[in-house]
Amino acid sequence: MKNTFKYIIRLVVLFMAFSCSNSSDDSPTFGPTELPDAIQASFDFTISPSDPKVLLLNNTTEYYLPYTGVWDYGNGSSAIADGAGVKEVTYDTPGRYTISLTVSSDGITNTISKDIIVDEIGICLNAVCGSVNTASLKGAATTFSVGTITRSPYVAAGGKHIEILKNEFNNLTSEYEMKMNIMYPSEGNYDFSAGDAIVGFAQANDMNVHGHALIWHNATPSWVENFSGTDAEFEAMVEDYITTTLNHYKGKVRSWDVVNEAFEDGTGHPLRNSVFRQKMGDDYIKKCFQFARNADPDVILFYNDYNMASSPTKRQAMFNLVDELGDLIDGVGAQMHISYNGPSAANIQAVADGTVSRNLKLHFAELDIRANPEEDTSLTSLSSDRANAQKDKFKEVVQIYNAIPLDNKFALTVWGVRDNESWLLDFWGVPEWPLMFDEDYNKKPAYAGFLEGLE
Ligand code: G3I
Repeated sequence: MKNTFKYIIRLVVLFMAFSCSNSSDDSPTFGPTELPDAIQASFDFTISPSDPKVLLLNNTTEYYLPYTGVWDYGNGSSAIADGAGVKEVTYDTPGRYTISLTVSSDGITNTISKDIIVDEIGICLNAVCGSVNTASLKGAATTFSVGTITRSPYVAAGGKHIEILKNEFNNLTSEYEMKMNIMYPSEGNYDFSAGDAIVGFAQANDMNVHGHALIWHNATPSWVENFSGTDAEFEAMVEDYITTTLNHYKGKVRSWDVVNEAFEDGTGHPLRNSVFRQKMGDDYIKKCFQFARNADPDVILFYNDYNMASSPTKRQAMFNLVDELGDLIDGVGAQMHISYNGPSAANIQAVADGTVSRNLKLHFAELDIRANPEEDTSLTSLSSDRANAQKDKFKEVVQIYNAIPLDNKFALTVWGVRDNESWLLDFWGVPEWPLMFDEDYNKKPAYAGFLEGLE
């Protein structure tokens, strides 16, 4: 009987595949002979906001056929039939627990398991225990701001992302919507709507905003790349753009990256031959800083770049530029896109020393720490060994930053909240876990490393 039923289902599926394959609705479409993948169990969990000993288990398994699910909470109470809604499970006794969900459909059974640790305080996700779970980054860092990035759709969506921003961070950078290609999409037509949404959220939540970035070759609108006017008209357009933007955000944005990533990575690190250099000359950076200073003498002005720690020659090229800018610049933004195994502490320290010796503010502006720089495509999860190595690197970076003199402190910004949102996943196209929160917004050992760096 069961086989006849299975056979009828398959026939129905095949009929759907052939009759609906180019249908417009979002029903599953299959290639001619493809059959749907077997059921795969999946669940996520978070700690109850009201009780650190209560775990909220959420079955996120998706399948096109009806299925049954059975939980094993690992605390001796097994075989709990799954049903709608989040399961609340209390773990009173310290220890390590393996939680499993087994799902069955169409004769196929699949199980997924995740471990948790429970200490005398409560549940530790990702082996992050004790006081770390109740800590907040901004609360722990009392001498500098702790920042991260966001996007206007994230702000609009609210939810856990916003909760983390409010609990953990007091400095915000727009990941991409306060760049020229978004703010100045066509000549004479400014669009600050996305930036305004982010700035409005920050103001409503007592957070500072770091403007990023006024001039960047990688975020230049095409009408500027193909500017048809004279060089003088181009320079006037850039001055108008910087003046208009700074006036629009005057008193709302505390600091700006005036120019981002102006140097080539090759020998001698010449200036990139961007349209700004072609039209305004080699001193275009100085002109842009002057335009910014004229527009708003109170806003803190940074030059921002990457490989400041890993490339001593590029670092020197940057400091030479900074010396030329004199009192037009207030701070250095070192992006800090690094890995668990480099650059060395000595090289990171050299960025701090060079900035402090010039009486400038230091911004570790875009910190993320690759856990898989070897680009091992077979990795499916972050091992505890690698998670702890990453934790040590976060600790090292924060220790170096926290040790600089107070007058040189500004902010330490991480380039993202959750691992799965990081730009690195698209950029390198390999498995990666570079941030302090996992995809379920649970704190990782990296988070504990940040806190330990402040001790
Ligand atoms: O959100 C839109 C989506 O609606 C649309 O469908 C899609 C296709 O056009 O674009 C999406 O926007 C993209 C956005 O990332 C979000 O994914 C933008 O096109 C894309 O340009 C933007 O890339 C950003 C990139 O800078 C360029 O601005 C990355 O998020 C951001 O992480 C990256 O950040 C840079 C720093 O500014 C400078 N240092 C390096 C760092 C990493 O490249």
